[in-house]
Amino acid sequence: MKRTKIATVHSSNPPSGQVLIKGWVRTRRDSKNFSFIEINDGSCLKNIQVVADDGLAAYDQIRKLATGSSVEVTGEIVASPGKGQAWEVRAEAVTLVGDAPDSYPLQKKRHSDEFLRTIAHLRPRTNKYGATFRIRSALAQAVHRFFGERGFYYIHSPIITGSDCEGAGELFRVTALDVDNPPKIGGGVDYSQDFFGREANLTVSGQLSAELFALALGDVYTFGPTFRAENSHTRRHVAEFWMVEPEMAFCDLDGNMDLAEDLVRNLTGAIREQCKEDLDLFARFVDKSLPQTLQTVVESDYIRLPYREAIDILRSAEKTFEFPVSFGSDLQSEHEKFLTEVHFKKPVILYDYPKTIKPFYMRANADDETVAAMDLLVPGIGEIIGGSQREERLDILEARIKAAGMDVEQYWWYLDVRRYGTVPHSGFGLGFERLLMLLTGAANIRDVIPFPRTPGSIEF
Ligand code: 4AD
Ligand code: MG
Repeated sequence: MKRTKIATVHSSNPPSGQVLIKGWVRTRRDSKNFSFIEINDGSCLKNIQVVADDGLAAYDQIRKLATGSSVEVTGEIVASPGKGQAWEVRAEAVTLVGDAPDSYPLQKKRHSDEFLRTIAHLRPRTNKYGATFRIRSALAQAVHRFFGERGFYYIHSPIITGSDCEGAGELFRVTALDVDNPPKIGGGVDYSQDFFGREANLTVSGQLSAELFALALGDVYTFGPTFRAENSHTRRHVAEFWMVEPEMAFCDLDGNMDLAEDLVRNLTGAIREQCKEDLDLFARFVDKSLPQTLQTVVESDYIRLPYREAIDILRSAEKTFEFPVSFGSDLQSEHEKFLTEVHFKKPVILYDYPKTIKPFYMRANADDETVAAMDLLVPGIGEIIGGSQREERLDILEARIKAAGMDVEQYWWYLDVRRYGTVPHSGFGLGFERLLMLLTGAANIRDVIPFPRTPGSIEF
């Protein structure tokens, strides 16, 4: 017999008759002649209740089934007389697959997120983390659907690269040299003898590849892991995170902001539709204001405001900030919170940032002071999107690369697409985990990625 998923039993079209259920025991309680076993198989939040009577062959063993052990159950689907579920399974046979001794860390009680991080290999078996990772999966599929429906092509940008897109130097080196005894040249390591014949690193962004492909296929996106060796111990930074990076040819900053707003609104709407039951858990146990926040994200028009005006608002605010701002300051999380949670109470897109705080590739504005950058900020998290119109003018781009202290020769291919048939183009990066934090109300980014990589932590 084929296995029936518990999600199917609880669906609008449940199976009838005999089923085979396979999953893990959440709890068991015994009455005089029956044992009631709650089983979860990860397919949905709800368990299925299995009722085993004392006439069953292995009843002695059934009465010892422990939390965390895995079982196979064949039985009949019947309407449940009990409260809380429409259907239950009247067992005909219950087989223990893998036992779980008392040391199983997920005994029935609530555990802190901090503790569950120390057992990240088991935490997806809890209600909350099961829900988190089902939502994560649905969100990834919604990303591909969103772009597919709009005619964007999916590009696989390389993970190993020789460039530093953000120019921030937060690179994880990739090398095949013997690190204890590397070949030397001058005072340093001779990377010409390394695998690629020069220095290589894990990518911080797929943007540069996406740009090249946008100038060939029109509208494209990349969606993959990116890596940053920034030593940030915050609740919204990890060293390995996933980024969604669309890039559009013949598109200016306004078109870019339109896409960013459309994407966040659409993905949030999709998850609200598809993951109702899992989202409800977060609204009940994690963040009571979550339904209201998500409604605002889906239904409100986002504020669009030049960076300069945001600085004015912050400077004239009643609140005193730990980091005072002026034109040229990078906004801190406290400022982003003020704008999205206190002042506007909804998502805000800031644009036209000072060129001094943004990377080389952003298009210079006519004022010679700002670039056509945009960041999308949301309540509770702050920045979830960073993007820009790209500098498409060869001479200006060359000058920017030099001014950033980078090697122009190395970027010959990036410059080439400006040399041959250049066009205005724009794109952005959406932090996939940041969006998941918004959707679930999770306060810490470590709790929305299966195995978080942070400074000092590489377990699992
Ligand atoms: O603003 P960022 O640095 O932009 C870029 O990397 C551009 N090259 C993207 C592009 O235009 N194609 O990063 C984009 C987003 C941020 O807004 C944030 O949501 C997320 O990536 N992000 C991080 N998420 C988790 N941990 C980190 N350390 C992150 N750094 C950036
Ligand atoms: Mg940014």
